[in-house]
Order: sequence, then structure tokens, then C-alpha cells
Amino acid sequence: MQKNGVAAEPEEVVEATEAPEPEAQPEPEQEPVAEEQPVAEQKDAPEAEAPAVPDESAATEIKVERVEEEPAVEPPLDPEEIIHDPDEGRISADAAIAPKRTPGVIHTEQAAEGRKRHAEVYAFANQKGGVAKTTTTLNLAVAFAESGHRVLCVDLDPQGNLTMSQGIDPDKVEKSMFDVLVHQVPLTEIIQKREIDIAVASIDLAGAEIAMSTMIGRERSLEKALDAVAEDYDFVCIDTPPSLGLLTINALTAADKVIVPVQCEYLSMRGLVQLQNTLEMIRDNLNPGVVIEGILPTMLDSRTVHAKEAVEILEENFGDLVFKSRIRKAIKFAEAPVRGASVLKYDPKGNAAEYYRDLAKEVLTHGAS
Ligand SMILES: Nc1ncnc2c1ncn2[C@@H]1O[C@H](COP(=O)(O)OP(=O)(O)OP(=O)(O)O)[C@@H](O)[C@H]1O
Ligand SMILES: [Mg+2]
Repeated sequence: MQKNGVAAEPEEVVEATEAPEPEAQPEPEQEPVAEEQPVAEQKDAPEAEAPAVPDESAATEIKVERVEEEPAVEPPLDPEEIIHDPDEGRISADAAIAPKRTPGVIHTEQAAEGRKRHAEVYAFANQKGGVAKTTTTLNLAVAFAESGHRVLCVDLDPQGNLTMSQGIDPDKVEKSMFDVLVHQVPLTEIIQKREIDIAVASIDLAGAEIAMSTMIGRERSLEKALDAVAEDYDFVCIDTPPSLGLLTINALTAADKVIVPVQCEYLSMRGLVQLQNTLEMIRDNLNPGVVIEGILPTMLDSRTVHAKEAVEILEENFGDLVFKSRIRKAIKFAEAPVRGASVLKYDPKGNAAEYYRDLAKEVLTHGAS
């Protein structure tokens, strides 16, 4: 049957269909035939309705015509049969490729392992200024590095505070994140090695938002740049400016998780709703998977009633999202950047360093669970 149907060259089928009756169309069971003859259907596309129908009457006509044309037609028939064989041929094609894939499987496994090593990207964000975004980005990053992880910090703040905190003068930087975001310079060209690797900022980063404003895919510039180094790091920590502009949106779009430092004062916490709204927008449009890893109470002066109340309000409103770790006030945090160092390097055995080591443990434990 199939052979007959298939054998029927398009032309023949056409003729057959012309002859057959409109009655034949309603005849149902030929659907299977139609299914069996995808090739014929395609060829018959213009007159597709009829071809399958005329099994009996048409078949005879077809046979007759075939007989007439057999000599000339046979050659084309062979290729059609071959077309059917390839259904099986698909298998044989896979089989043919398989040997090449066999060694590839090893690579795939390696790639899977590699994926586990893909950098986990953290953005440190809060549009409110002076809440310890930069301090947290650097010291948590160094705490990650202390525990044996490969860490890249990205300074996405035109103020360049993170860059300065590692003893680099943003004014003397030749290439910076500006060049990465605006001119697609590879990240590796601007990364400097200090306590951690740092993708530096310069003052001209302030012009990046305007320069990027007309670029297609401007929200994903950082994400793309990070793709190229994702295998080289376990963690990427992005410091953001105190705004919800395009630079911060780039950070949130590139991030897997967001850490929100919050100064333990009532007014500081009100901005969290706005940040959550921005994240919602990012999730809806750019990065569905981004989540808040945690809200971090910073600059905590536990001696004051107000600070305790502020933390309580945080926990009442955000529950488990609030880290258990607390970053208390300490003068070392202000001193360390002057030395171009994290508190973990500046005062390795001090309490201030311990606050961020504790936070690193909490984040790593949470990430592992
Ligand atoms: N736990 C702390 N105790 C005391 N001072 C701190 C603490 N954390 C940060 N600081 C100091 O507070 C100031 C602001 O911190 P930081 O620059 O990290 O905030 P930021 O949120 O990055 O600010 P901006 O929004 O301007 O980027 C800095 O001088 C820093 O040294
Ligand atoms: Mg900062």
C-alpha cells in the first residue's frame, strides 16, 4: 500500500485525485494512508485532499498509469523509497555520529562539572547610599577567597569606592568597566589582581548609562561580559551605585542572587519596597531567576534600642530573608580602605573581620542546602 501510494508520483496522484469523487474525500480511513505518505502529501500539497482517498478506484488507475510510465518513472521512484528508508536512516545517522560522541560524552561530563564551577553571581544592591554595599561586597568577597574560592569583584559604581578599597586609583585606570560595558572590551583586560580579582571602575563610568542608553541589549552588557569568565571564578560579587539606574539594572540582570545591606535605621528600611519592585520588574522582563539571597543588617549598634527595634521590624517584615549574621559598627571598617585593604587583611583577628567570615559561612551553608 505504501509503496503504491508513494510510488504514485505527484503527477499521477494528481490525476487520480481529479478523477476521484468528492465522495471519496469523506472516506475516513485513508487518514492512516495519508499519514504514511508524508512525502506524497507534501508534493500534493496544492490538492492534498484527494490523494489519500482513492485507494481502490484511483489505485487501479494509478497502476495503469504506472505501468505506462514505469520505465521512465522508476528511477525517481527509487529515491522516494530511499526517502522512506532514511526514517530508519535517522537511526543509522545517529549511529554514525555516535562514535564521535562517545569521546564527547567525557567532555560532556567534564562540562557538567564545569557548570558546577560556574561562578555564582551576587549583586550587592540598595539604592540608599552609605549602607555598606561596598564594604560588604569587598569583605564578603575576601571571606569567600579565604575559604578557598576563586572570587571576582566587579566595581559598577562610578564612585570607584571598591576599586579604591583595594588601593587602586580610579583616576589612573586606563581601561575600566566603562570600556567593558560600552565598548565590549573583554573583562580580562581590565581585571586587576589584589586580595581578590577586581574589575575596576573609573570616573568615566558615570557616563556609561548615557552611552549605553541607545544600545540594543543595554541591560545585558554585564551579563554578556561575565559569561566569558564564568568558568574562571566560583563567585562574582558586584558592587552597585546608590541608584536603580542602568548600571544597577545590569547588575541585577547578571545576578543569580542579590544581597541587600541595610543600615539598621527605620528610614533606611523604607527603600526596600522600592528595591523589591525593581527586582520584580527585572524578574518579569530580564532575569526570571534572580532572588534576594538575604537582607543584611549593617552598622548595627546593638547598644541602642532603636537598632534593636529596627532589626525586629526587618525580621517581622521579611522573615527568613534577614540574615542571621549581624555586621556591627566598628571603626576598622572605615580604617581599612585607607590602607587599600579589606578588614580581613587589615585586622585579620579582629571582630570586624569575624562578622564577614560569619556571613560567608552563612551564605555558603545556605547555598549548599
Ligand atoms: N560596620 C560598619 N561600621 C562602621 N562603619 C562602617 C561599617 N560598614 C561600613 N562603614 C563605613 O560606612 C561608610 C559607608 O560604607 P560603604 O561605602 O560601604 O557604603 P555604600 O552603601 O557602598 O555607600 P554608597 O551608596 O555611597 O556606595 C564607609 O565609610 C564605611 O567605611
Ligand atoms: Mg558603595
